[in-house]
Amino acid sequence: MTASKNIHWHTATIARDDREKMNAHKSSILWFTGLSGSGKSTLAHAVEDRLYELGCRTYVLDGDNIRHGLCKDLGFSDEDRTENIRRIGEVSRLFTDSGVMALTAFISPFRSDRDAVRELVGEGDFLEVYVKCDLEVCEERDVKGLYKKARAGEIPEFTGINSPYEEPLNPEIVVDTGAQSIEESVAQVIKVLTERKILPAD
Ligand code: ADX
Repeated sequence: MTASKNIHWHTATIARDDREKMNAHKSSILWFTGLSGSGKSTLAHAVEDRLYELGCRTYVLDGDNIRHGLCKDLGFSDEDRTENIRRIGEVSRLFTDSGVMALTAFISPFRSDRDAVRELVGEGDFLEVYVKCDLEVCEERDVKGLYKKARAGEIPEFTGINSPYEEPLNPEIVVDTGAQSIEESVAQVIKVLTERKILPAD
């Protein structure tokens, strides 16, 4: 693939600031990361429900769904996962620029990939939410039956079994889905959004 040449950046007249004023909230990325079955998607959608009630503009980007379209050419090798997260980072950046809050639910197992997105969008726009859950609990839940298959050797590079997951070192938020309820986790996320003035105080 050859990179494009002779392309120029067009600056929009309507800026992110204008869109945020219209929305009455700031845009940012809530980056949920954790093992398969840890509850990332469930929590991201539950947070979105709450934000919707509060009148916020949001969009959830979800690993399984995005892999049916934008990233359907990618598999689960280290390189493909890196490319997956790079694309999602770029898409999330477009969402924040459009004034929308992006909630992403991808395993995103590599620290360097997550840090690259943080760097791409800027420190204040990236809130890493570590959806912490012991491998044993995820495996016990095995909602999609994939751990069973991975243990049987039917999935060659399955996260937590034969492909690594690198825990976040300094996430903005840690939720323990094995120990706390969804409602508690949602409240925790909303509290941080308010403290950081992404959501208005009232
Ligand atoms: S990531 O590693 O590139 O961030 P992503 O979140 O997009 O992964 O996709 C993970 C989902 O794909 C899992 O929830 C699971 O349903 C499915 N999946 C299929 N094969 C694998 C695999 N080898 N490792 C992890 N998840 C897999």
